[in-house]
Amino acid sequence: MFKVLLYIIYLIHVCDSSKNNVLFIILDDLRPALSCYKDDNAYSPNIDKMSSQSFLFKSTYAQQALCAPSRNSLLTSRRPDSVHLYDFYSYWRDTVGNFTTIPQLFKENGYHTHSIGKVFHPGISSNFSDDQPYSWSETPFHPATFKFKNAKVCPNNDGTLSTNLICPVITRFQPLKTLPDIESTKEAIRFLNERNKTLPFFLAVGLHKPHIPFKFPVSYLDFHPLENISIPVNRFRPSLLPEVAWNPWTDIRLRDDIKKLNISFPFGPIPDNDIKKIKQAYYASVTYVDDLIGQILNEVNLEETIVVLTSDHGWSIGQHGEFSKFSNFMEATHVPLIIHVPKLSHNKVVIHALTELVDLFPTLVDLTQVAEPLTKCPKNIKLNTCTEGRSLLPVMLEAVEKQKIKGKSAVFTQYPRPGPYPTLKPNSDKPILRDIKIMGYSMITRRFRYTEWVDFNPDNFTANWEKVHGRELYDLVVDPQENMNLAGRDELQKWVKYLKHKLKLGWRYI
Ligand SMILES: *[C@@H]1O[C@H](CO)[C@@H](O)[C@H](O)[C@H]1NC(C)=O
Ligand SMILES: *[C@@H]1O[C@H](CO)[C@@H](O)[C@H](O)[C@H]1NC(C)=O
Ligand SMILES: *[C@@H]1O[C@H](CO)[C@@H](O)[C@H](O)[C@H]1NC(C)=O
Ligand SMILES: *[C@@H]1O[C@H](CO)[C@@H](O)[C@H](O)[C@H]1NC(C)=O
Ligand SMILES: *[C@@H]1O[C@H](CO)[C@@H](O)[C@H](O)[C@H]1NC(C)=O
Ligand SMILES: *[C@@H]1O[C@H](CO)[C@@H](O)[C@H](O)[C@H]1NC(C)=O
Repeated sequence: MFKVLLYIIYLIHVCDSSKNNVLFIILDDLRPALSCYKDDNAYSPNIDKMSSQSFLFKSTYAQQALCAPSRNSLLTSRRPDSVHLYDFYSYWRDTVGNFTTIPQLFKENGYHTHSIGKVFHPGISSNFSDDQPYSWSETPFHPATFKFKNAKVCPNNDGTLSTNLICPVITRFQPLKTLPDIESTKEAIRFLNERNKTLPFFLAVGLHKPHIPFKFPVSYLDFHPLENISIPVNRFRPSLLPEVAWNPWTDIRLRDDIKKLNISFPFGPIPDNDIKKIKQAYYASVTYVDDLIGQILNEVNLEETIVVLTSDHGWSIGQHGEFSKFSNFMEATHVPLIIHVPKLSHNKVVIHALTELVDLFPTLVDLTQVAEPLTKCPKNIKLNTCTEGRSLLPVMLEAVEKQKIKGKSAVFTQYPRPGPYPTLKPNSDKPILRDIKIMGYSMITRRFRYTEWVDFNPDNFTANWEKVHGRELYDLVVDPQENMNLAGRDELQKWVKYLKHKLKLGWRYI
């Protein structure tokens, strides 16, 4: 009853005005390394300022810690098991169903939609066209300098150039004298100023940083002096971690500066001083994109624009001895989510309820009333437009009214492996579909993260829960860093049994 009342109040608010615009900002590999998430290493004044007039979700999780699966899941509001995408190499419209995307629904309902930078993952997974002609009203924009991503443009101390992981640069000495995210920011500002103002817009801006390589204007290092950078306290593998859970960060090993360190595969540690430099470069990359986001937000009228800021997944900066995504660790799956809603966001409203990236689509539909609220996707029937998430509008309204927030009792994420041990061939960080033999299914509740690594058949996309390669159980209340795997503890077997049961049932039964 109360919820209905809140909903009506919201409708009155939105209906008394013309259609809100939507600015959707998605970062690449950004964990909540932001001051507004109380990360003391971060310097992010622009995002912090935006968050002061927004809903700030503290417990949002990606459905898989890899770019293409996470983005296609978020943009269609379906989980990787429904999109059948765990790698980079299939396009859902050709393989599973003609699923509607967030921008597509806005485009079909009177919005002008535009994509700048990396919104869809480029390549096969968006049909080499960012899902054109379905999702966007005009040709998506890609920065010309992105093609230099893996070029030898990072200066070494001796003046030579390499393809380094850590790559602070002087922008005017770079090819075309600019960097991808600077180009994307210019295009966003151009769009916001020159757009046809008769239509509301859905503008998606996908910035490339802080994804590796950490290429950013060198001046951002000033905000992060090396002597202020600490080593993560938990830079060791969790005790009793099954090896299948480990990702050997194959991508950073390929960069010239890391190659030089001759680190043993798969567990060899990175020396302390290099950990500090990686951490410094990650946080400097965040300060760099924060600056660009500030420039974009300066052009936006927050009284008529919904702003969403999030990321496809996180990145481990040395926690558990890991440097990357490619896992079910919190560092890889936990993402920032900040939503500004005109007339509703007067100050910062922090929401602790468990939420997931699949929740964004139904939320944006409810916030804009662009179409009928999305229905929950039925089992075994493929509807083009439906959701495997849940609208966040009710929890947002409950939070504004300072009501007790219910939310979900659990959220889900998953990661595939080609076998039980870390390998270079096949690359166990990024197995291609036909090599996937094991799926790590994770459920995060208010108290635990429970993960089970089970046999997986890539031909029919089914898990065999009888064949278990590893279990993980972390008590997030006493061990929020996930340093101790408790899955084998005798006294906790009742919990393990209960959590396994819930995990197998999955998101539909939460
Ligand atoms: C997929 O959906 C789009 C948009 O509704 C439609 O134009 C297209 O014909 C559909 N394709 C198929 C194969 O049904
Ligand atoms: C994907 O792109 C190819 C080549 O441009 C095109 O022939 C095909 O129709 C596209 N798929 C869909 C579902 O639009
Ligand atoms: C703006 O869009 C409207 C609606 O699509 C159209 O009628 C009008 O011609 C456009 N104006 C310009 C200047 O393109
Ligand atoms: C570095 O740490 C010192 C000592 O805590 C502090 O005074 C200074 O402001 C820090 N510098 C930056 C740029 O954060
Ligand atoms: C790299 O490390 C291996 C063993 O970890 C060692 O045998 C080899 O000599 C090292 N190579 C260099 C160039 O340091
Ligand atoms: C998937 O394939 C495996 C191996 O052929 C088989 O054992 C299993 O029953 C199949 N599952 C489904 C749901 O078809």
